[in-house]
Amino acid sequence: MIETITELDVLRARVSEWKQQGLRVGFVPTMGNLHAGHYSLVMLARQYADRVVSSVFVNPTQFGPSEDFTRYPRTPEADMGGLEGAGCDVLWLPTVESMYPFGVELAAKVHVPGVSSVLEGAYRPGHFDGVCTVVSRLFNQVQPDVAAFGKKDFQQLAVIRQMVTDLAFPVQLLPGSIVREPDGLAMSSRNQYLSAEERPRAAEIRKTLLAMREGLVAGTPRAEVEAAATQRLSGVGFVVDYTVVRRPDLSEPLDGEVGPRVALVAAKLGRTRLIDNLEW
Ligand code: PAF
Repeated sequence: MIETITELDVLRARVSEWKQQGLRVGFVPTMGNLHAGHYSLVMLARQYADRVVSSVFVNPTQFGPSEDFTRYPRTPEADMGGLEGAGCDVLWLPTVESMYPFGVELAAKVHVPGVSSVLEGAYRPGHFDGVCTVVSRLFNQVQPDVAAFGKKDFQQLAVIRQMVTDLAFPVQLLPGSIVREPDGLAMSSRNQYLSAEERPRAAEIRKTLLAMREGLVAGTPRAEVEAAATQRLSGVGFVVDYTVVRRPDLSEPLDGEVGPRVALVAAKLGRTRLIDNLEW
């Protein structure tokens, strides 16, 4: 049976009990409205840990003023059932007051320079400060040995990796593969905002990423590949924020340079902003 914990003292007691028994603790932070992508992270954490804690906390500090904090889907009952089915031992449900005891305005913030400022960071100013601020608190609360993060949020993982190294968190990060719908759309809590008419068109993002890889591998210049991707998505009604090919650390590759690459896309379909990526 999954145990739901809402008090920090109780969480700390449970985790220290496990640690005294020599058990390894895994952690999967989430904002709820869970889907197969989240459950795959719980299963991944289970492979590296004896006990798994998952948190559900819709973190106000990572949403911009015009973003979807208030309408972000909240489905606590379904989340609890799904987490239990995936093998989660504890559901940690902090309140906003316990997460930010001095209030959001006076909260100590964690800022990771460089990798936080490009792409998502440029389109969503302050977003990664909010993510790092809450993830560092969650790490201190749960004190996990390992923590799983999905690769759909490729840049988030890069930012958290830098934070973990820089602030010497004793946590091993586990990157989880992207879980997709049968038509290739990456699973996301925001997919449910798509209308019935928009939903099939959303699959074009994955096709565009595959075409970007094909173009690059065939030797097409990066700028041409990126421009063609923007054109393709705009052609089916997306408003594109970016379609780029980067090195895995998100820096820009030089023309003719070989090495591992990631294509990243962020685009809006109606009111829904979607992100996805493809590594090769
Ligand atoms: O990826 C998410 O769901 C959130 O950014 C996270 C890591 C749970 C922090 O609120």
